[in-house]
Amino acid sequence: MNDRSHLTTRAARAGAHGTSGRGGPLVPALHQSTVHSYPDLASLHRVLDGEERGHAYYRFGHYNGRLLEEAVADLEGARDAVATASGMAAISATVLALAEAGDHVVADRNAYGGTRDLLEADLPRLGAETALVDASDLAEVERVLTPRTRLLLVEALTNPTVRVPDLPALVALAGRTGTTVVVDATFATPALFRPLEHGADLVWHSVPKYLGGHSAAMGGIVAGGSDLVGRIRRSVVHLGGTLGPFDAWMALLGLKTLPLRMRAHTRAATTVAEFLAAHPAVARVHHPSRPDHPHASTASRLFPLGTGGMLSFELRGGRPAVDELIRRLAPSIPLSPSLADVASTLVHPATTTHRSLPADQLELLGITDGLIRLSAGIEEPADLVAELGTALAPPEPT
Ligand SMILES: Cc1ncc(COP(=O)(O)O)c(C=O)c1O
Repeated sequence: MNDRSHLTTRAARAGAHGTSGRGGPLVPALHQSTVHSYPDLASLHRVLDGEERGHAYYRFGHYNGRLLEEAVADLEGARDAVATASGMAAISATVLALAEAGDHVVADRNAYGGTRDLLEADLPRLGAETALVDASDLAEVERVLTPRTRLLLVEALTNPTVRVPDLPALVALAGRTGTTVVVDATFATPALFRPLEHGADLVWHSVPKYLGGHSAAMGGIVAGGSDLVGRIRRSVVHLGGTLGPFDAWMALLGLKTLPLRMRAHTRAATTVAEFLAAHPAVARVHHPSRPDHPHASTASRLFPLGTGGMLSFELRGGRPAVDELIRRLAPSIPLSPSLADVASTLVHPATTTHRSLPADQLELLGITDGLIRLSAGIEEPADLVAELGTALAPPEPT
């Protein structure tokens, strides 16, 4: 494949080298077998020793997983990638592979709750400490980084207020302490933002979100340099967190349309954000396209194609207005505790994604009772605007 071809072209052809082109199937086959057979020990050993391309036992890696890894590595501009059973399997294996007792880890307090739990509840039991910071506050990050800080974990776009940390500046700070920078780009995807091009060491994703795109394939993936990914792969194999072949196969199919979908998600979210910002029932819209978003200028510098489908907004009527809106929008725009489907969905962060956080932490993150997160799908934006307009209208007088 021509490395200089556009991302849309490379995505559409993802996995094409896994097909024969000589009368075989156009879509790479699904190899569901958990194990392979060999004619003699020498040929099995060549595969186990990595001297020859091939597979032995599924937990060490398999055909469909490898096609997905190569495709994501290509889109991210990475040397290698390792696919895992879920996003959490990816970050758990990464942290366990790279941090050890006595180490210090710094993470954005806006990170996904599961990542925070891993760092705050599990990592201290292994003797490593975590400091949570606002990754958009460079002075705060600089204050906590020390030569003992092994990892800096941030998200390219955060949930639910779509904050945009300045990754090149964070990479420069982390470089001074020799800290490995790990970016969760689940909301951003390589179609909009490639952290490795900005100097990050590793990028990871929850696959059922935008990479897969259709809420049907589970998985996680970490991409980066060969040495780091090799260490993480060993940890995935030890922890038993390998992605299953069927999910890898499904994810590869989804990946083919990623750049097209991200354009449509971005268009929908931007149009809806503009509509909601002017609506009298809405107190505030969190979307980087809005001039009052605190990271509007960082977003236009780092995300020239836009920021995808995520936005959140606060209703003046608080929690009762949230309940009413959710009821009125179902089933067209349903409440669904995930994101990034091709169809738009809603979440109430305070009682779902962030429900484990105490009130003071919710306040610090700007998550109020009246806040709703909308994952804008690829529907025609005018339809979403019409549906939201109807649902937000005051009740008819009886
Ligand atoms: C931004 C982000 N990162 C990571 C994860 C964890 O991924 P998974 O649920 O696949 O383990 C999620 C899950 O919702 C997420 O939203």
